[in-house]
Amino acid sequence: MYKLLGLVILVSVSIAWIQADCDVCQSNGAACINQTAYHLCFGAETPDVNQTFVCTDGLVCTDQPVICFQRSETPASCGDTDSCGMCAPNYTFACTSRSTFAFCFGALTPTNVTGSCPDGYFCDASTQEICVTKATDDSIICHLN
Ligand SMILES: *[C@@H]1O[C@H](CO)[C@@H](O)[C@H](O)[C@H]1NC(C)=O
Ligand SMILES: *[C@@H]1O[C@H](CO)[C@@H](O)[C@H](O)[C@H]1NC(C)=O
Ligand SMILES: *[C@@H]1O[C@H](CO)[C@@H](O)[C@H](O)[C@H]1NC(C)=O
Ligand SMILES: *[C@@H]1O[C@H](CO)[C@@H](O)[C@H](O)[C@H]1NC(C)=O
Repeated sequence: MYKLLGLVILVSVSIAWIQADCDVCQSNGAACINQTAYHLCFGAETPDVNQTFVCTDGLVCTDQPVICFQRSETPASCGDTDSCGMCAPNYTFACTSRSTFAFCFGALTPTNVTGSCPDGYFCDASTQEICVTKATDDSIICHLN
């Protein structure tokens, strides 16, 4: 029973993850346009771009029901991609998307030795664990799907 419940949660988490993207209407009715701003969808499939909303300080645009959520709990749905493919700071690995990574083996650019995170995990370049389930204030996430 609990195993089944776990599976259901895992599956819903993965669905939520697939949804994460920029300018896409999410299940919470918002379409994030960058890490902190969003448009509303008002039940439509495309966002209404006439009004832009900005999350309050410290919160980021997510697919959570409350839309703006603490960055330390959930990574933003959409954001910058500057860290994608960057081997810094430790030249061990680089995140190449939200859920994939490539090893750097001390080089500045990633090698073609790549891997992907388990379901429900995302790549965080700030941690030696490579794939994590929870973001921190220091998280370096590559916002590509
Ligand atoms: C996000 O977009 C809003 C509205 O266009 C803009 O005011 C804000 O500076 C942007 N924030 C970032 C982090 O790019
Ligand atoms: C946005 O504003 C334009 C110009 O005022 C209007 O024509 C359009 O219908 C508006 N879109 C929505 C979704 O309200
Ligand atoms: C990775 O790159 C090396 C050197 O360019 C090449 O020999 C090798 O076949 C590549 N491996 C894969 C899995 O693509
Ligand atoms: C980088 O190396 C330092 C020192 O070894 C370590 O404390 C830190 O956790 C490493 N960071 C990553 C992202 O691996």
